[in-house]
Amino acid sequence: MSNPDASHGQPGRFLSVEGIDGAGKSTHIDWMADRCRESGREVVVTREPGGTPLAERLRELLLHEAMGIQTELLLVFAARSEHAAALIRPALARGAIVICDRFTDSTHAYQGEGRGVAPAWIDQLEAAVLKRLRPDRTYLFDLPADIAAQRRAAARAADRFEQEDVAFFERVRAGYARRVAEDRGRFLCLDGRESIDALRSQLAADLRRLGLAG
Ligand SMILES: Nc1ncnc2c1ncn2[C@@H]1O[C@H](COP(=O)(O)OP(=O)(O)OP(=O)(O)O)[C@@H](O)[C@H]1O
Ligand SMILES: [Mg+2]
Repeated sequence: MSNPDASHGQPGRFLSVEGIDGAGKSTHIDWMADRCRESGREVVVTREPGGTPLAERLRELLLHEAMGIQTELLLVFAARSEHAAALIRPALARGAIVICDRFTDSTHAYQGEGRGVAPAWIDQLEAAVLKRLRPDRTYLFDLPADIAAQRRAAARAADRFEQEDVAFFERVRAGYARRVAEDRGRFLCLDGRESIDALRSQLAADLRRLGLAG
């Protein structure tokens, strides 16, 4: 399927999934991939930071090593540069559907709104590192930070980001809302308080609308 409208200009489709820690992203990604595979297309599921062996090593540092915000921002983009070159671009060039757990919107929300990095600097890094590579569609799971914290506490031990307080995650959440306001057409916003089944029917309807699921 050719895809002349995509900013990346490749025949594949690039979908990202966003939301604060515990909002519900992982709960749906493999399920979305299965719906897309039913249409016969190649589907690549990946995540950020990470997605290649080197980027996964950078992820370990980012999640567990104390560091300054500038280092954090540059490591995020180092991992993304590697991920884009080695995995995402080749997959899109083959015509695959790429489903990525987090992408540059996370940087705006976490390092930008959460930690206070100027948006213009993130935009400059994005332009330099990614050129025109951006998701065709972004699924944003929105959930109040206190509910997300309860879900995380029940699920697993906290990493360096997950140890942040509710105020940090409310800033991140507001950062996502700002991204949506700047680019409404790219986002599908989902209310993470809804049931998993209700969310999946919205996801399925959107994937059908995009021609990616039957
Ligand atoms: N709609 C829902 N209703 C109730 N609980 C949910 C819902 N979606 C997910 N959960 C639960 O919330 C927890 C966190 O979900 P999940 O791991 O999918 O979040 P995440 O966004 O991937 O988090 P992270 O960014 O930390 O990876 C899990 O225990 C999951 O079972
Ligand atoms: Mg997850």
